[in-house]
Amino acid sequence: MTKVLVATEKPFAATAVKQIKGIFEDAGYDCTFFEKYSGQDEFIAAVKDAEAMIVRSDNVNPEVLNAATNLKIVVRAGAGFDNVNLEAATKNNVVVMNTPGQNSNAVAELALGMMVYQARNHFNGTSGTELCCKKLGIHAYGNVGKLVAKIAKGFGMEVFAFDPFVAKEKIEADEVTVLDTVEELYSICDYVSLHIPSNEHTIMSINYDLLSKMKPGAVLVNTARKEVINEDDMLKIFEDFSTFKYVSDIAPTNKDIFLDKYPNRCFFSPKKMGAQTAEANINAGKAAAHQIINFLEKGDSTFKVN
Ligand code: 3PG
Repeated sequence: MTKVLVATEKPFAATAVKQIKGIFEDAGYDCTFFEKYSGQDEFIAAVKDAEAMIVRSDNVNPEVLNAATNLKIVVRAGAGFDNVNLEAATKNNVVVMNTPGQNSNAVAELALGMMVYQARNHFNGTSGTELCCKKLGIHAYGNVGKLVAKIAKGFGMEVFAFDPFVAKEKIEADEVTVLDTVEELYSICDYVSLHIPSNEHTIMSINYDLLSKMKPGAVLVNTARKEVINEDDMLKIFEDFSTFKYVSDIAPTNKDIFLDKYPNRCFFSPKKMGAQTAEANINAGKAAAHQIINFLEKGDSTFKVN
C-alpha cells in the first residue's frame, strides 16, 4: 500500500481532512495525518516511510528530504513553494508540485478584509474611512491579485496593477489600469496589496526607497510573505512617515516592536490565515491528493515546480 503523509503543522479544516482521506482510501492508499507537530525533529521522524507527502507552509528542508528515503513526490497544498528546498528535492529525485489557484479566493477575501479593518481603525469605535473611490495598487497580478481586483471593484475602488510577467492586455481585460513601474504603483495608490512570491529576486525588495514613495495615510497590505519586506527599512518608514500603515497576514520577525510603538497603524494575524478557510482547504487538499495519485499512477507531472 502506498504510504501518504499529510504533514500540516497548521491543520486543514475537518471537512477537508475527511475528503482527502476519502480520495486516498478510494485509491487504495494508506494515508496518515500528522498535524500540529511541535518541531522539525518530530517532522523528520514522521517522514521515514512516506512515499508521497502533502504539506502546507511546513518546512521541507534538506534534513526532512534526506530522512524521507522512500519519498517520490511532495505537493505543497497552496501557491507559494518557498518552504520546500527544491534543490535538495531534485537531488533526491523527489518531484515537487503546488496547487495554484486553489486557495486564491480565500487570500483575496482576507486582503480586502484587512483593508476594511484598517480603514475602520481596527473596529475601535472611532470614525474611519471607506474603501470606495480609493486607489488600490495590486503588486503582482497572479491568481490572487486578479481576485483582489474583482472584489475591490465591488467596493468601488479604482484598481491599478504592476506585473512585468503578465501581458498588459490580460490585465486590461479586467478593466484594471496597468502601470509600467512599481514606483508609480506605490506613489499613486491609497492601498497597495502585495502578491509577489518570495524568491531570490524579491526577498527584502519592499524597502525604504519604495515605501517612502507612498502617499500620506497610505496602507500596505501583505498577504504574501514576510520575507519580501525589508524589516529595518519598514521600521524607519514608520518613524519617518507618521501616517503610514501596514497590515499583514504574516507577522514581521520583530512584531512586538511594531505593535508596541504603533498599535493603531499596524495589524498582524497571530498565524497566517489567508488560506485558512474550509473551502480553500478542501480545494487545495483535494487537488493535492489527486495530483499525487495522477503522478504515481499515470506519470502526470502537471504543476511540477522543480
Ligand atoms: C500559499 O502560499 O498558498 C499561502 O501562503 C497559504 O499558506 P498555508 O497553507 O500555510 O496557509
